[in-house]
Amino acid sequence: MTFVHHKTRIFILLLSSFFSIQLAFAEEGMWPPGLINAAILEQMKAKGFALTPDQIYSTSQPSLKDAIVLFGRGCTAEIISNQGLILTNHHCGHGQIQSHSTLQNDYLQNGFWAKNQSEELTNPGLTVSILVRMEDVTQQAFEGISANTDLKERAPIVETNLKKIKEKAITGTHYEAQIKPFFGGLQQWLIVYETFTDVRLVGAPPSSIGKFGGDTDNWVWPRHTGDFSLFRIYAGKDNKPAMYSPDNMPYIPKKFLPISTSGIKEGDFTMLLGYPGRTNEYLSSFALEMVAQVANPKKIELRTKRLGAINAAMQSSPEDRIKYSSTQADIANAWKKWQGELLGMEKAGAIAAKKKMEARYRQFFSSKGQEGKPFVDALNQLETAYSSLKTGLIPFEYQREAVTANTIFGLVVTTKNLAPPKDTKLDDATKAKKIADYKAIARSIWKNCNPSVERQLFSITMKAYASDIPAEKLDPNFLGYLKKHPFEGQKFEAEYFDRGQWFDSNAVYKLAGKVLEGDLKSLEKNPSYVLYKALSDQYNLVYLPYYQTYSAQIEGAQQVFLQGQMLLESNRNFYPDANQTFRLAFGQVASYEPRDGVSYKWQTTTSGISEKADTELDFVMSPQLKETFAKQNSSTQGPVPVAFIASNHSTGGNSGSPVLNARGELIGVNFDRVWEGTMSDYYFDSRICRNITCDIRYILWVVENIGQSSHLLKEMVLLK
Ligand code: ARG
Ligand code: GLU
Repeated sequence: MTFVHHKTRIFILLLSSFFSIQLAFAEEGMWPPGLINAAILEQMKAKGFALTPDQIYSTSQPSLKDAIVLFGRGCTAEIISNQGLILTNHHCGHGQIQSHSTLQNDYLQNGFWAKNQSEELTNPGLTVSILVRMEDVTQQAFEGISANTDLKERAPIVETNLKKIKEKAITGTHYEAQIKPFFGGLQQWLIVYETFTDVRLVGAPPSSIGKFGGDTDNWVWPRHTGDFSLFRIYAGKDNKPAMYSPDNMPYIPKKFLPISTSGIKEGDFTMLLGYPGRTNEYLSSFALEMVAQVANPKKIELRTKRLGAINAAMQSSPEDRIKYSSTQADIANAWKKWQGELLGMEKAGAIAAKKKMEARYRQFFSSKGQEGKPFVDALNQLETAYSSLKTGLIPFEYQREAVTANTIFGLVVTTKNLAPPKDTKLDDATKAKKIADYKAIARSIWKNCNPSVERQLFSITMKAYASDIPAEKLDPNFLGYLKKHPFEGQKFEAEYFDRGQWFDSNAVYKLAGKVLEGDLKSLEKNPSYVLYKALSDQYNLVYLPYYQTYSAQIEGAQQVFLQGQMLLESNRNFYPDANQTFRLAFGQVASYEPRDGVSYKWQTTTSGISEKADTELDFVMSPQLKETFAKQNSSTQGPVPVAFIASNHSTGGNSGSPVLNARGELIGVNFDRVWEGTMSDYYFDSRICRNITCDIRYILWVVENIGQSSHLLKEMVLLK
């Protein structure tokens, strides 16, 4: 009797672990429309999806892809009216909001709401791209290459092919074409965009709503951030892209998203469309070990120090608060995410799971004799290459984290770039243009920093550089400078920061004038230049080549390893890693249990805002705002839903992405992931990976009640 009972239990256990594997695969994935096959579509339908694939993506009729745009350099936005109104995150529009902000007109602090279209603010440099089409062109890309083609001859053949494909795709149009590798280069895809260059700021809530919770709540659930802002695409009279002109008209889109106001519940189907930036789902355990043991810990440590200096400045000076707002948010965002990744990888047992898969992989291919050998070899190559790469990673990464992170070096490089090409004399008009552009860049750098804070950051980064890179790998010149001007007594800072005079505009412009004339003598004597040159030479001659050697080996082996994983799990549908191309992820509204005894609900409301208000610096709110929330919470309508979580696989770049219901109606704007799930860029675990979405009903409420902009709601299609 006991025996039978025992047996049944084993059976059930096996069955349930089988199911959890199925589920894990069901929600994982960022699918290019072309790779949503019948099996994936079935899974979507089983969860409730109620559209057809060509309602998502079609080149012959308007489809959802026409309403979902690549915003700026790395976010997503969606068109929500027939007048080109677009919705994205507050943190995606942050740079623009900051650029229009001054102490007198502090739009970051107070919010910004254009009362009508003539008040909308232009943003030079900001673009919005709409997908025209994307398709697999692997066959054409590799045309003329056979198994016999010499390895060295392959690259130029492919390059010519790709050039032809791109040219053909856009001749006679105003479109732009890109070719992007999918599956580590096993496939090549053509992506065609229409890019708009006149994009204006329409509305943004105050930071105490748009960034409510700041760094304390960033990457964390439960969340109460109204992380949204509104822009508008403008076009020429022909509705085509045009540079800014007061005569431009709001863009009339092929398609815009209707908005659902009827609410959601746990288990509802959700899909996320947009432009996820980068994931690495098919790496080996060796790669993950490098991230967990070397890359993340060191980078976190250095950023912790930099943030210490920046946060202190921002807290003590309202001027520095504006100046450093974007810089601080950028540094803090990755800094916190890396910490979450370490935790999540540990929690999900990501490295152990990879090792287990690798053991199966080795067994599978070892049993296949000669045919399996390249696949086993690839995994071995990865192991060796990563053990070498590990030791050169910090010097390589510190060029960005510790060297070019310094604004004075940004000024040094911009100045150096003014030099005319050898033996050429520039005419006066060219010179005037160059110096005007130069001054604009210099001013924009100065605008966003405070010299005394920069000096502290210089000191922090240079000390970390000197101590975190092993002495035998440091540049001998740099070691010499350190000996002559040690950090003690701030001699190093006095020599290489102060004497560089990069915050004295007269001195800088004088220097720039000489460089423009081809006279580099003064620049070459500038101590900051001298230091920068030593560090850059070391990077270019030593750290970068080392990194490139091993990353090239890794790239080749990783491609074979991925191919091997596909053979090993031949029943699984593989999706390509994110590469900033249009993708669909699907899942459902879902709570989660981050740890033993703790369960998180799937939704938050404005009552949580009142609870959190003023409990910490990141939750500070004006008395007037607090009053508005209190009134709402005690009204007959009650608290408004603010955010919800769902199991959509997302990453950086999905910021601003629309979250849609089964019928393709907008239910919210994606803006973050939960703390335990940020490792989903390397390893997706459907038990703890959740994307965080700002509920559209909260956005509408803020536009109306805080922004007093109900005219914007009239542009939208609000479905009951
Ligand atoms: N974590 C989100 C993302 O990766 C939001 C970042 C902006 N917020 C912040 N406090 N830095 O973009
Ligand atoms: N906030 C992220 C972004 O800027 C999106 C959230 C994520 O990485 O999941 O794209």
